[in-house]
Amino acid sequence: MAFLPFVRPTIDEAMIAAVADTLRSRWLTSGPRTAAFEQALSQRFGGRPVRTLTSATAGMQVALELIGVGPGDEVITPAQSFFATANVIERTGAATVFVDVDLRTRNIDLEQAQAAVTPRTRVLLPTHYNAPLDPEALAAFARRHGVRVVEDAALAIGSRAGGRPVGATGDIVSFSFHPNKNMTTIEGGALVLNDEREAGLVEELRFHGIRRLEDGTRDVERAGSKYNFSDVSARLGLEQLVHLDEWCRARERLAHHYFACLEGDELLTPERLPPRDNPGHSWNMFTVLLPLESMGRSRKAFIDAMHKDGIGVGISYEAIHLTTLFRGKGFRPGRFPVSERIARETATLPLFPEMHESDVERVCAAMGRVLRRKAA
Ligand SMILES: Cc1ncc(COP(=O)(O)O)c(C=O)c1O
Repeated sequence: MAFLPFVRPTIDEAMIAAVADTLRSRWLTSGPRTAAFEQALSQRFGGRPVRTLTSATAGMQVALELIGVGPGDEVITPAQSFFATANVIERTGAATVFVDVDLRTRNIDLEQAQAAVTPRTRVLLPTHYNAPLDPEALAAFARRHGVRVVEDAALAIGSRAGGRPVGATGDIVSFSFHPNKNMTTIEGGALVLNDEREAGLVEELRFHGIRRLEDGTRDVERAGSKYNFSDVSARLGLEQLVHLDEWCRARERLAHHYFACLEGDELLTPERLPPRDNPGHSWNMFTVLLPLESMGRSRKAFIDAMHKDGIGVGISYEAIHLTTLFRGKGFRPGRFPVSERIARETATLPLFPEMHESDVERVCAAMGRVLRRKAA
């Protein structure tokens, strides 16, 4: 039987032809296709300005820069997310203030975030994880504490919250188009912004800070980066965007098949699964918390055994505060127990739109065997 990876982007012949046409046009870097892709995304987000960048990491970095975050500031973020979320804060010179997450949604615990606010807090940087973040709760948080919100929506392109697409509301919203995400441009990201002033700032910051002057020459006032998007990626993005909603529906269907297959499993109890009733969620991942004690084997041994059965399993994510970087700043185990438990027990099962329900059944059957087989 063919190996089943835990993620696989959908690439069809129309996409390959569109990319080939772009290559033939010889216009490869930022140009008309990038503008068209930004326009198509903007339409999806209720007409809000959108600017693309080479990755979501670049996008979040630029978002913090345009807000003016720097040394002496604090940014509140979850301890359980991808490393990028905290890395971009560290690179501004601001202090990363971690808070814990909810065990099932894996989203930031906003009550703990409230308690972490100080007069130095400039930004809340939460991740949409196993459920969409509540836009009203984020807006209320921003109002109450006078802070900006940068949503890390890397996993959430195609999600909806409060009846609208994630990105259509809120302050600044950052998406990723990495191949593991719900749609891909190979590498890439996009920022949804509040107005044209912010969009102009992103244009500067993503391309060396360059401004065009009336006499045709160029000037730089502040040093920008080199994060502009390529037209080859944009052309793929335009083609992918057409399928996004259909792919998210396929993800949801497959996720519900996982729930049906795992129903009644005494090892994988509901608290070990994502929330089942999860309106608007785009199901980028199907994560479980492994019952390590009853399994009698390590997660590594579990993943290796699944691999031997032809099934890929991922790990999302480590606890960021326990990386060498943050241990060096004094963080120790026990500080954020929920994030740490997720980091220890989590496993990401295969989920991508081209999978069949029989693949889900195959994963569940293999997992049932591996979880119960005694370690050698
Ligand atoms: C939660 C989260 N945030 C941010 C990123 C960064 O995205 P990119 O790879 O586009 O920089 C990722 C990528 O995996 C992610 O999973």
